[in-house]
Amino acid sequence: MKPINKMLETLIDRSEDADILTPELNRLYGGALAFPKPPPERPFTMVNFVTTLEGLTSFALPGQAGGGDISAFNGQDKFIMGVLRAIADGVAVGANTLRTEGEHLWTPDYISPDHASLYTELRSKLKKKQPQPVNIFVTASGRILPVNGTLPVVFETKDVETLILTTKNGKQVAEKEFAGHPRKPRVVAFGSGEKNVDLQAAFRYLRREAGISFLLIEGGASFNGAIVEAELYDELLLTRAPQVIGTSVNLTRPLFVNGFSRSPATALWHTLVSVKVSGDYLFERYRRQI
Ligand SMILES: NC(=O)c1ccc[n+]([C@@H]2O[C@H](COP(=O)([O-])OP(=O)(O)OC[C@H]3O[C@@H](n4cnc5c(N)ncnc54)[C@H](OP(=O)(O)O)[C@@H]3O)[C@@H](O)[C@H]2O)c1
Repeated sequence: MKPINKMLETLIDRSEDADILTPELNRLYGGALAFPKPPPERPFTMVNFVTTLEGLTSFALPGQAGGGDISAFNGQDKFIMGVLRAIADGVAVGANTLRTEGEHLWTPDYISPDHASLYTELRSKLKKKQPQPVNIFVTASGRILPVNGTLPVVFETKDVETLILTTKNGKQVAEKEFAGHPRKPRVVAFGSGEKNVDLQAAFRYLRREAGISFLLIEGGASFNGAIVEAELYDELLLTRAPQVIGTSVNLTRPLFVNGFSRSPATALWHTLVSVKVSGDYLFERYRRQI
């Protein structure tokens, strides 16, 4: 076999918009990264995830349930996540992801510290209002803290603004949970339902009132599923890690979306925007066909 090139190599790039990267990030990314203008009623929304060859996104094992175990903490995957976070005004995840990854910060520097200064330069070039993207958590229950009550690190981090999108009941629960803590997140309720946040209303709020033009969604499967089913996203950015891990009745493992199913007549189709390769990993970018 030929030696494997670990740099990012662009195999296909069909994007037609103007490059937003700095020259050094363009070199490391293996070319341009471009996006159309965000729509007026919601942020331009990218869903980013890593899957195995059979499309699974978590080992679902205690302490080994995160995306990092799926990518084997691949450096190029982390670099791209950092670029996407640097472009984003906000990064949103479902409450289970926060509860299982309490040490995580959804910032570019956290995921790829070696590139921190390049990400800062990019945010400054893009005239981002915040030094870091707002970390957004979605919960129906409002029970954001893990069972042991430990405060996730993000709520103790000075430079990172946090926002909780929840239901009417959830807002009361979340505010009670944070009552004794010195740094309180902004908690906003959407819709009168108790089970689900009104995502359409929440996305309108993000765009029109919270200053979020570019939103990055990083899982998990339930939250991704709600966003995809509601057709509130523009792009899927998928890292394909070359491993097979299986799933069974005794140990069910999630795909990148969960909680809905469509028919051949209503299936969601996508246009391939770009494909990159690094070693044995593929990095695929798709835009939803509207
Ligand atoms: N491979 C990857 O790229 C990747 C990426 C991210 C996460 N992960 C892993 O995936 C696992 C978590 O996935 P998951 O599917 O169990 O959970 P999740 O999507 O992170 O969170 C699910 C929770 O989010 C809230 N939620 C989701 N949609 C909602 C809606 N429409 N309205 C209101 N609340 C909503 C609910 O919170 P409440 O229960 O509080 O009501 C729900 O129980 C973790 O192990 C994580 O590490 C993998």
